[in-house]
Amino acid sequence: MSDKYRILKNDNAEAAGGDFASDVDDGLSRPQKSISSKYLYDAEGDRLFQRIMELPEYYLTRCEYEILRDNRDRILLLLGGGQINLVELGAGDGKKTFLLLEHFLERGLQFRYVPIDISESAIQGLIASCCDCYDQMAVEGLVAEYFDGLKWLASQNQRRNFVLFLGSNIGNFTRAETELFLRGLHDALNDGDLVLIGFDLKKDVNRIKDAYDDSQGVTAQFNLNLLSRINRELGGDFKLNQFEHHCIYNEQMGVIESYLVCNKRQDVCIESLGKTFCFEEKEPLHVEYSHKFSEEDVAQLAQNAGFRVVEQFYDSDRLFVDSVWQVIK
Ligand code: AVJ
Repeated sequence: MSDKYRILKNDNAEAAGGDFASDVDDGLSRPQKSISSKYLYDAEGDRLFQRIMELPEYYLTRCEYEILRDNRDRILLLLGGGQINLVELGAGDGKKTFLLLEHFLERGLQFRYVPIDISESAIQGLIASCCDCYDQMAVEGLVAEYFDGLKWLASQNQRRNFVLFLGSNIGNFTRAETELFLRGLHDALNDGDLVLIGFDLKKDVNRIKDAYDDSQGVTAQFNLNLLSRINRELGGDFKLNQFEHHCIYNEQMGVIESYLVCNKRQDVCIESLGKTFCFEEKEPLHVEYSHKFSEEDVAQLAQNAGFRVVEQFYDSDRLFVDSVWQVIK
């Protein structure tokens, strides 16, 4: 099984875990403390995110599942024939993707599935499910960050590529990072290649807020796992019951901002950094952006990065869109 995936090392990664340690150090040393949401996804984070996807309030996954299920024939038609690299960025558990893959296999599409994810445990799980369910499918997993995934993509100029970027994962970037990423994606691909990107749409504010502040507190656990991860991997002594999950929707920017707020002044020692960080009472630690998009935002992003919008697929309540773009070189 292990020959079915590779780990692409980040250019500036020193030893394993070096990135995490130095990013935590940087993030906690800033005047406004912040740690990148990419670190939410260790094995425990993956498990908690699976539970988020099943929450009644978290509509995103169900909407996109419906979209892919109802439009897979149309998507297949857009792909045409020939050998295709079917690349998925931030693949996670691949549940939604399998809907497409299964259909494509049945219809005889020639493709190789290349899931790319930052979480090694997610890639391992995904490869195992692929092997169990689809023994005739060619799979090559990559454990990598998005920008390293793009570098790998740039080496794939012999094939036609179809890139999936589902789940509104794109919403985790800042606006500036989004533009940089989409430009990089465009530049890494070949003329005529297709991408399908999931965007969570702007909508009723309460609907959005509830999705990130669920009544069972699973999202809170998911975010607090970041502190447990620091405790586990870096020898931190965060007391989890002294931090609270708090998210606000910035309507003007169209973004959910998630924080862990310290409820009691304290020093937190992180052994492997040999440092102590002071948290004031009510001090927030920023952990995630989840941007929401208007239909104009989507069109603008495509155009600015050099793509042509081919087709928009909506769920029946128009909460979410999967937008298909073509690379124009
Ligand atoms: C997986 C990044 C799309 O931002 O909606 C869910 C992560 N965080 N609940 C999102 C998440 C809190 C999710 N993405």
